[in-house]
Amino acid sequence: MLQLLLLLLLSSTADSQSQQVSGYKKANACVCQLNSTMWLFPAQKFKYVLEEVHTCEGSLNNLQEELTFSSQRLPLIQDQFTKFTVRLEPYNYLHSQGLYTELSLHQLGQVLSQLQVDIDVVHSQLNNSETQKLSKEAEKLHKHVNKMQTIDTVNMKTVKEKLRYLKNKLETCKSIPKDFRGQDRHCLKGLITNISDPITAKVSPFGKSCVSGSWGKQAQKESDGQKNSYWVQPLLSSYIWGNTVRLYQTYEDLMASTNHRDFTFASSYSHPNAIEGPSAVLYGKALYYNCYRSADVCRYDLETNEVKRVTLPGTGVGFNNKFPYCYYDCQLNSDIDVEADETGLWALYATLGNHGNLVISRLVWDSEVKSLNVTQTWETRLFKKAVSNAFMVCGVMYATRYVNEYREEVFYAFDTATGKEDNSLAIPLEKVAKAVASLSYNPTNKQIYMYNDGYLLAYQVYF
Ligand SMILES: *[C@@H]1O[C@H](CO)[C@@H](O)[C@H](O)[C@H]1NC(C)=O
Ligand SMILES: *[C@@H]1O[C@H](CO)[C@@H](O)[C@H](O)[C@H]1NC(C)=O
Ligand SMILES: *[C@@H]1O[C@H](CO)[C@@H](O)[C@H](O)[C@H]1NC(C)=O
Ligand SMILES: *[C@@H]1O[C@H](CO)[C@@H](O)[C@H](O)[C@H]1NC(C)=O
Repeated sequence: MLQLLLLLLLSSTADSQSQQVSGYKKANACVCQLNSTMWLFPAQKFKYVLEEVHTCEGSLNNLQEELTFSSQRLPLIQDQFTKFTVRLEPYNYLHSQGLYTELSLHQLGQVLSQLQVDIDVVHSQLNNSETQKLSKEAEKLHKHVNKMQTIDTVNMKTVKEKLRYLKNKLETCKSIPKDFRGQDRHCLKGLITNISDPITAKVSPFGKSCVSGSWGKQAQKESDGQKNSYWVQPLLSSYIWGNTVRLYQTYEDLMASTNHRDFTFASSYSHPNAIEGPSAVLYGKALYYNCYRSADVCRYDLETNEVKRVTLPGTGVGFNNKFPYCYYDCQLNSDIDVEADETGLWALYATLGNHGNLVISRLVWDSEVKSLNVTQTWETRLFKKAVSNAFMVCGVMYATRYVNEYREEVFYAFDTATGKEDNSLAIPLEKVAKAVASLSYNPTNKQIYMYNDGYLLAYQVYF
């Protein structure tokens, strides 16, 4: 066992005083007490202290790496969190002395918000006294940082880095294996096991600069007329709103960007029938999507030009960027996501009533009375803002998270047939750019369609 002794020598050339702090190894961690009253030194000496803190943290990092993925990591994260809070003290001091000038507190606030989101996820999954404590501490820290934000002259770059580190640590304890391998009543195939590399990659016909929208292939198997149609729905107003959908009769037409037909389903970008967010899916002879500034799903009939709508159930249904897909980067106004699979149509969204966690509603078009209905709703325990996107396959909702600019990962599944979930998945999904605007499965050919920063990508799914 390595005995760590950390000496923080804070020598000042001005008064040639020095101070010393002892560190020791305790419960697999390097522990060092930091007393804010000792930070009485000129601001330019601060970096030396910081280096020493990093040395301490370096040994912590090494210890962390030895640990395996499991919920047993939680106490450690809690420990890290406490340590982080302690380390914030010198910043407080320097801040109160007005010694720091660069400002990045706004960014810090954002990183902290994401951290809290991640803690919420762990909390909602484990929900024990330890996660409760962690959650409370995060809240406290947030309040604290908010207080510091009243003066915007602090260099918080290193605090930001620590928060990111902490965030990554939290990420690794999200996966709680559960006894889930439920038999699906519709497909009898079990969960998806792999996703191919992109088999189609094409710049959006609306140009690379059109960074948000959705696209895909006709999703209804027994659809006459539009059987092999491909469609692209661009969000041309602020990358949030749109009023047209472009249809290609064949895959070849789409690839060559020829022989398209545009359908206009609203007279302006702010018409009640306009689309909000990358939410659309073409199913049968209609386009389904989130209607402008509302908790409604619209159905635009390509043959009759009629638009029908239904309001999604739940207390405080999120729309207008309240609960967008947010992992790493928020995807503007991606609150309500319409999806199709072997079993029909679905709406994925979040509600205040379900604490911002994902809610799944089953949509049915009643062609006799010409009414769009919601027939059933499931509440998950997966915080919507902590996932990058989601799609449905065989009545199972899959959620993704951001890994890096060129990779996403399917990490979570919720089976509507059994109500069971699995957050131990790790199915990679390659991409060409950072932001995933929309991600949809198509049951007719078992492919997945991604609108990726102005690129259209397609994948093959394996079971
Ligand atoms: C911090 O240090 C000062 C001066 O050495 C001491 O008076 C004070 O009690 C210490 N505070 C804590 C919490 O240890
Ligand atoms: C945790 O459990 C308690 C009691 O069972 C419940 O009141 C609380 O809402 C739960 N919190 C979360 C975030 O699930
Ligand atoms: C999954 O798909 C990728 C990409 O096609 C492939 O390289 C990999 O070998 C597959 N893995 C498994 C376990 O089938
Ligand atoms: C859909 O809702 C309408 C109006 O409330 C109702 O008349 C119809 O029976 C419903 N259809 C289904 C399939 O639930």
